[in-house]
Amino acid sequence: MDFDLTPEQEEIRKLARDFADKEIAPGARERDRTETFPADILKKMAPLGLLGGPIPEEYGGHGLDYISHALVTEEIGRADSSVRTTLSVQISLVELTILKWGTEAQKKQYLPPLCRGQVIGCFGLTEPEVGSDATKLRTSAKREGTHWILRGRKTWISNGSVSGLALVFAQTDPSKGHKGIAAFLLDRDKQKYESQGLHGKLGLRSSDSSELILDDIRVPDANRLGEVGDGFKIAMSALDSGRYSVAAGAVGVAQACIDASVAYATQRQTFGKPLAGHQLVAEMIADMVVETDAARLLVWRAGDLKNKGRPNTRETSIAKLYATEAAQRAADNAIQIHGGYGFSDEFPVERYWRDARVNRLYEGTTQIQKLIISRFATGIDAIS
Ligand code: CAA
Repeated sequence: MDFDLTPEQEEIRKLARDFADKEIAPGARERDRTETFPADILKKMAPLGLLGGPIPEEYGGHGLDYISHALVTEEIGRADSSVRTTLSVQISLVELTILKWGTEAQKKQYLPPLCRGQVIGCFGLTEPEVGSDATKLRTSAKREGTHWILRGRKTWISNGSVSGLALVFAQTDPSKGHKGIAAFLLDRDKQKYESQGLHGKLGLRSSDSSELILDDIRVPDANRLGEVGDGFKIAMSALDSGRYSVAAGAVGVAQACIDASVAYATQRQTFGKPLAGHQLVAEMIADMVVETDAARLLVWRAGDLKNKGRPNTRETSIAKLYATEAAQRAADNAIQIHGGYGFSDEFPVERYWRDARVNRLYEGTTQIQKLIISRFATGIDAIS
């Protein structure tokens, strides 16, 4: 076992860190206040290869290994979870899923523009009445000759309004349950799906969250991803990638909480000494450091399995569960350390806390991760 990063991994982490510090962090508060989608940042990330990190070079990506992918995601998450969410959906839920399940023609058609940031992708699984129980999708796909007609609603779709490509899951035959689900790639220029932005969010205010409105959308069969009936497996394998990315982003949030707290607690004086000299403050910082290190190592373990092409659903769920809960605790401690200042956006820690909250909900709630992990441990299915 070797915990050292390779020179290439150090280099890509430095590139992402420098970019995050220079281009992402400075405007994060203003984008959060104004709910401004970070389109200009994405434009700058594309030429650096940051929009297609783990995608092979032949399809327009950077060919990064999964540890490098996590390092980049952590650095972006350290600066702004809204940007990180946009990227997680683009790369992990959309690009990697097309890479895994697409035909050669689909990979050649869709991956280069996604990696160049010319097209933003979204992932349409969740519906107004279907969240955790993704097997029960109501969006329907009916075959009509060489086409399919899709009808339904998707909600809480990150990147939905700004997307040019939607990976959407629909039920082709309700009598088959999850084995009737199919996945489709909707090209907005041609399939003309509509979206409606969702506002008033607690956090991730500068990321886009939308409803997708699928009113009899006609999709050619050539836009089907995988076989009819593979849709649920495609969605689950996509979430193995997505949850990894969320976990890495959460490590970034936790690290940002440490950085802000150490800076504040070593400079701010109370009772005649720096805050960090008080034992209860020191304890909070120590807790944050230990949990962040543990979360990072869990992410790297899942990444190592991904690099080796080995099953990693269990390890990814463990990393996602632990890292997202640890990030929330770190953000809570960071606010506590900052006192009243932590309650205002003069300091970034209140945004870290608000942004961290959704990590425990999307891409499978903490409770869903626990059900997956316990099923691996006991062999007993407490899900269905
Ligand atoms: N990879 C590939 N296939 C998988 C898989 C995986 N990781 N996990 C399960 N499958 C397969 C199983 O092998 C099984 O196949 P067969 O039918 O051939 O045997 C099939 O899928 C059904 O699997 P399960 O029996 O495990 O299904 P389940 O109903 O017991 O549990 C669940 C499923 C884990 C609860 C799942 O529904 C789940 O993860 N729910 C949460 C949904 C979720 O995360 N939503 C997030 C929305 S996306 C989002 O948030 C995006 C955004 O914009 C930010």
